[in-house]
Amino acid sequence: MATRTVVIRGVRPYGEGERLDVLLADGVIKQLAPAIEIDEHPDATVLDAAGQILLPGFVDLHTHLREPGREDTETIRTGSAAAALGGFTAVFAMANTNPVADNEIIVEHVWRRGREIGLVDVYPIGAVTVGLAGQRLAEMGQMARSQAQVRVFSDDGHCVADPLIMRRALEYSRALDGVIAQHAEEPRLTAGAQAHEGEHAARLGLAGWPAAAEESIIARDCLLAGHLGARLHVCHVSTAGAADVLRWAKARPHAGSISAEVTPHHLLLTDERLATYDPVNKVNPPLRTSVDVAALRQALAEGVIDCVATDHAPHAVQDKDCEWDAARPGMLGLQTALSVLAEAMVSTGLLDWRGIARVLSERPAAIGGLPDQGRPIEVGEPANLVLIDPDASWTVHGADLASIADNTPYEGMTLPAKIMTTILRGAITAHDGKVAE
Ligand code: DOR
Ligand code: ZN
Repeated sequence: MATRTVVIRGVRPYGEGERLDVLLADGVIKQLAPAIEIDEHPDATVLDAAGQILLPGFVDLHTHLREPGREDTETIRTGSAAAALGGFTAVFAMANTNPVADNEIIVEHVWRRGREIGLVDVYPIGAVTVGLAGQRLAEMGQMARSQAQVRVFSDDGHCVADPLIMRRALEYSRALDGVIAQHAEEPRLTAGAQAHEGEHAARLGLAGWPAAAEESIIARDCLLAGHLGARLHVCHVSTAGAADVLRWAKARPHAGSISAEVTPHHLLLTDERLATYDPVNKVNPPLRTSVDVAALRQALAEGVIDCVATDHAPHAVQDKDCEWDAARPGMLGLQTALSVLAEAMVSTGLLDWRGIARVLSERPAAIGGLPDQGRPIEVGEPANLVLIDPDASWTVHGADLASIADNTPYEGMTLPAKIMTTILRGAITAHDGKVAE
C-alpha cells in the first residue's frame, strides 16, 4: 500500500461540529482545518467526503480467518479485504485454525501473511491449550516472545472449561501482560445443543443451549480474574443474565481487569429466526430472545459490555446448506458490522458516532494492547481512519462480499450507513467498495 499525501475534504470527525479538511502525510494526521489549500499539496490524493463522518479505524478482537486449514472458506487475503471494506484497520485472528495456532510457527505465519498483504494489521491470537483440547496449556510464553508478540490467548470455539487450567492460564497471561479471551460455555450443559433453550427451540425439537451455561462460566472466570489480579476478556456475550453478571463483577472491589464484547448479530437478531430453519442463523453462542437483545444493547451503551467484535465465521456451502443439526455454527460479520451497529445502536439513539468509535475502535484497541490504533483524531496521531456515509444505505448480498464464503444472515436486508474509505497508516486500503491494489 503506497503511503501518499491525502487530503480529505468536508468531513466531520465523530460526526460532531463543523465540516473540516484533514491532511494526512507520512502515515500521520498533519492538519485539521476548515479549508486546506490543495495547491500546496499538488501530489495529494483528494477525497471529497462532504458530509461523511471520520472515525478511528475499527479494531476487531474476534475474526476467524481460516488460514491455515480452511482456505476454501477464507484466507488471510480475502479476510483482510473483507476487513478493509468493513472499515477495520486491525483484526485479531482466532486460533482455531488447522493446525491450531498454539505455537510460534503458526502465529508467525499468520502475522507475516497479514503484513505481506497489508490491507489490515493482522494480530494472531494464540490458543490457551494445546490443540484447543482443554487439557494442557499451550506454550503461551513462546508465542508471546515470537515475532507476532501474541498478547491475546483464546480457545474460542471451545470453552476453557477446567477451572484449574483456566486459573493457570490467567496466571501465565498476567506474567506475559496478556489477556485470556474466554468462549464462555459450560460444555456439560451444552452437549448436543443446537439453539437457544427456549420456546422456539422447543417447538422445533432442537436441543437447547441454556443461558446459564454461558453465565455460570462468566461468573466463575470473573471471580478467578479478580482473585488473581489477571485480565479476562469475555467473548460474544449473548444473554441478559451475562450482562447482569458482568455489571456485578465489574463493580466489585478487586475485580481484576474484566472486559467483554458483543457481536453485531446478537444486537440485532433473535431466535425467532429459527422458524426459518435456515442454518445460516446457527451460531455459537446462539441467537437469543428479544429480551436478551434489549439488555445487550443497554449494557453496551452503558459500557458494561466494552466493545463490539464480529466473530466473523466463514463456512463452506456444504457446512451450511445442510440440515440444522449438521450445520456448523457461525456467520460472516466484517463487512456488515458497522451497518448492523448503525441499525441497532445509532438509529435507536443508544449510541452516537463517538460511542461507535469507542466500541468499535478505542476499547478493542486498548483491550488488545495496540498503541497505534483507536487513537483520537488529532494532529500527530497515526492515520488509521475510516470514512462513513451515515445517510447511505445498501442491500446485503453474500455473493458480493469479499469473503470466499457467503454465509451472511443479512442476505437481502437493506441496512443503514456505508463504509466509504478505510485508511491504514495514511494509505487507502479500501475505497468505494473496492480494496486497494
Ligand atoms: O459461531 C461460532 N463460530 N462460534 C464460535 O465460537 C466459533 C466460530 C467458528 O469458528 O466457526
Ligand atoms: Zn466463540
